[in-house]
Amino acid sequence: MPQLSLTVNGDAHTIDVPANRFLAEVLRYDLGLTGTKIGCNEAECGACTVIVDGRSVDSCIFPAFKAQGATVLTIEGLAAEWQRHGRVSAEPLPVPANRAADDALAELHPLQQAFVSHGATQCGFCSPGLIMQSSTLLAKNDDPSDDEIRHCLKDSYCRCTGYASILSAVKAAATCIRTGELPGPELPPSVAPLEQIGKPLPRPDAVAKVTGAALYSDDYLFEGMLHGATLRSAHPHARILHIEIEAARAMAGVRAVLTHADVPGNPRHGLVETDWPVFAGGAYPARYAGDPLALVVADTPEQARAALAALLVTYEPLPAVTDPVAARSPAAPVLHPDRKDGNLLKHIKVRHGDIAQGFAQADVIVERTYRTPMTEHAFLEPECAVAVPAGHLDPRHGAHEKLTIYVGSQIPYADRAQVAASLGLPEEAVRVRGTVMGGGFGGKEDIAGQIHAALAATVTGRPVKVLYSREESLRFHPKRHATLIRVKTGATRDGLLTAVEAELYGDSGAYASLGEKVMTRATTHATGPYAVPNARIDCYAMYTNNAPCGAFRGFGVTQSAFAVESNMDILAQQLGMDPAALRRKNALQVGAQTATGQVLRDSVGMLDCLQRTEVTMRELHAVRFPGAAGGDLYAPIREGSKVLAWGLAAGYKNTGLGGGAPDAAAAEVEVYPDGHAEIRTSSAEMGQNLIGVLAAATAEELGLPFSQVSVLVMDTDLSPDGGPTTASRQTYLSGNAARLAARAMRERLQGVLAEKFDVPPETIAFHEGLAYVDSERLARVQAGGTEGAPAAAPQPKPILAPQTRSLPFAQAVQQLLAEGRDARLRYDYWAPKTQPLGTGGDMHFAFSYAVHAALVSVDTETGEVAVEQVVTAHDVGRAMNLLSLVGQIEGGVVMGLGNALTEHYIEENGMPWTRHLGQYKMPSVRMAPAMVNHIVEHPTAEGPWGAKGVGEISSIPISPAIAIGIHNAVGVRCMALPIDQDALLLALKAGTAELDRRWGDPPLD
Ligand code: FES
Ligand code: FES
Repeated sequence: MPQLSLTVNGDAHTIDVPANRFLAEVLRYDLGLTGTKIGCNEAECGACTVIVDGRSVDSCIFPAFKAQGATVLTIEGLAAEWQRHGRVSAEPLPVPANRAADDALAELHPLQQAFVSHGATQCGFCSPGLIMQSSTLLAKNDDPSDDEIRHCLKDSYCRCTGYASILSAVKAAATCIRTGELPGPELPPSVAPLEQIGKPLPRPDAVAKVTGAALYSDDYLFEGMLHGATLRSAHPHARILHIEIEAARAMAGVRAVLTHADVPGNPRHGLVETDWPVFAGGAYPARYAGDPLALVVADTPEQARAALAALLVTYEPLPAVTDPVAARSPAAPVLHPDRKDGNLLKHIKVRHGDIAQGFAQADVIVERTYRTPMTEHAFLEPECAVAVPAGHLDPRHGAHEKLTIYVGSQIPYADRAQVAASLGLPEEAVRVRGTVMGGGFGGKEDIAGQIHAALAATVTGRPVKVLYSREESLRFHPKRHATLIRVKTGATRDGLLTAVEAELYGDSGAYASLGEKVMTRATTHATGPYAVPNARIDCYAMYTNNAPCGAFRGFGVTQSAFAVESNMDILAQQLGMDPAALRRKNALQVGAQTATGQVLRDSVGMLDCLQRTEVTMRELHAVRFPGAAGGDLYAPIREGSKVLAWGLAAGYKNTGLGGGAPDAAAAEVEVYPDGHAEIRTSSAEMGQNLIGVLAAATAEELGLPFSQVSVLVMDTDLSPDGGPTTASRQTYLSGNAARLAARAMRERLQGVLAEKFDVPPETIAFHEGLAYVDSERLARVQAGGTEGAPAAAPQPKPILAPQTRSLPFAQAVQQLLAEGRDARLRYDYWAPKTQPLGTGGDMHFAFSYAVHAALVSVDTETGEVAVEQVVTAHDVGRAMNLLSLVGQIEGGVVMGLGNALTEHYIEENGMPWTRHLGQYKMPSVRMAPAMVNHIVEHPTAEGPWGAKGVGEISSIPISPAIAIGIHNAVGVRCMALPIDQDALLLALKAGTAELDRRWGDPPLD
């Protein structure tokens, strides 16, 4: 094997590596520097960026031997390199820091510090690449313009943040380099924070993410680890007659070849219905082109992939159906003959009032049909699962008493149940250990490689890693449903809605996944955030031979909101009404009834969202177009070949499972004699900063500093079940579980101290790591005085109780333990009961609301669309952490922008056309608009401190707002997403009023 000599982060290395190795592989797998990430292996995402001899490179395609003799700098070495050059960062950091990382933080490169304090790292998978890329800019230019930063980062994707925080972090770092001071982030106002709740606290894992220390699934390396590669169907629908495996089994390094015949337990898995085969074959045909047929397990990933080519499959191709409307025809090929309803996964119905009477009362009726595409989550970290067999002892990771799976999963307990069922094991014999997750957005709820890795580890007796390439990830995992939606909206002359009728078709693809639930949300939200007295909605969720479709941020409401809001805009136009006024007139308010019969009792901030968005839109409009101030806000304004106009749309989204499903989360709190506490739940952290919310909730209740609470999530052996991370439910559910667990622990501690000091428990309070036995003394401290030195004015009340004193939290815990009391406590939180669809009453326990406005520009010579400015207002009940809340909003908006303009996962006759990340055009920093965000806080009665979900609503109204903006600019109504800009240009030239084009449609005349 040839020898490679290079210096990495100041250390000289000479190693034997295969000649065809790339630099990223050498860094990660030979040198163990896993801070450099691989998101695509196609020079597309920028996650693998490192510096070679002062120049940034995509190390995934940089041949390792090109770095012979070179000096390489990776994220692990950036801070030391910065310090080596005698550069000292600002100190102290002007935001609350956390954990033991406080000291280390000041030693970091200003970019790393700024990414932490500005919330520019969420899932963190992109952060090393973005930081390394930005460092090359700041090395040359310590005062870059916005355009220069965007140009520098144009080839580096972030799927979570929406780029705004990244831009501000790079600017702040530049300021720090120039002045030694690191500016903090600019955040919108919110209600006054409590001690922890509502503050912009940096996420607890931020330092690990910006230094490359955070371990994602593919970063786990075990002694003797094997590698799995999966053979997938070459047809969208085919019987598997035979798989010849002997030649592959005989190849060098191959340890096992597994097929359906090797599955000892349940041959199928699934979250709602167990209809998805672990391997297609035998009784189960391949039903889409991503179905797995076999797993090759070998010593190296290269050997495993090479052996796939030696597997010979005999197929009997079957007719395929790839359109959800055609799938409903009695003549369509049936995917699951064991089901009684043919290809119908679910017919979902909403019936409300008298639809005929509603339309009879209408003076204006608008009826249109809309189409939305299948879209892809494009989380930057491809799926990876590592299974370690029971009894394995590893020098780095210790003993494994049971079969253990390391995976980034949104539902660890569901993973455990499905793995155990397919392996024929009791659930207790399997442990799922969640790793740091590089994004999910709903796409990591279904099983990916977990069962295969577990099976392979069991068969071979060795750890097995199953890592998907980007192409495999695209081909395999469930997508956002493509939909066809007809909406008929009726209103009186003065704009009062009288009726909505809708028919939806959802392409659920080959397996159930969460399709029924997703399309139920699309259906129940199909009247929009409006009081509609009469509604009749029918939805058909259909099986097809396309990729399965399931959860994706917005959960079906993204699709129906596009149709509903487009119809609302047409209605406003036909009525001659201001579009905001039409929405205001019909907006849901406290006391209003939804189309499913639910009377809203609290927390309906829709009108506030409308008002704040409108005011800001007008202010920005006056600044941007001084000549047009005071005129029609939505009128087009020409600037050369471009025409600009605002579009406005609204949306709402349920928090929690709803529909009668029991919804619970458990959390366990433990306090320690050193004075810190740990909160545990299995709920998934995928970048949204649930861990920060849980830490803040626990710290608030126990009166501890944020830095004295640690969080353990996603471990089925160590953390109780928090339920699925879906439906924007975790802040509410797990937030409440953590809050109530911590509160119960506080009461236990109060009881112990009350006995010791012989005072009533309620006179004991906790604050900043101290237990106050006289709560009046605490009041003085909170009012600005100091312990032992009361504030001068106002005059403190005299200390009344002779036994008044304070003691450290640690001593309170020591007292608890000395009395033999349990320092650990579990709380099972059950959300308020909900009702199934069709039975009336509360279908959901909370809703979030949002209004988005987009200033859109259309180039009339090219058809190019750009979003220059976005204004948002979100009613989130209560801001739990202002920094991560704004990050969720910014990220959701840019994801919705991609949904409107560029994103489309394309299959042709059931075979994937989108095979590479470069073919899936998600927004880069160049597309990121300027944003003004308003936080509206109408608290829910039972949410933690009034909070409800924000994860999904932030990506819902933006797509229709953009489509409406385009219409206002150039008069073309886009009826299908994404908006094909070539077709838009042709429509402009042809004078087409309504553009019903999508990718693959024949060209316009
Ligand atoms: S992993 Fe190298 S550019 Fe994506
Ligand atoms: S934080 Fe950028 S991809 Fe997740």
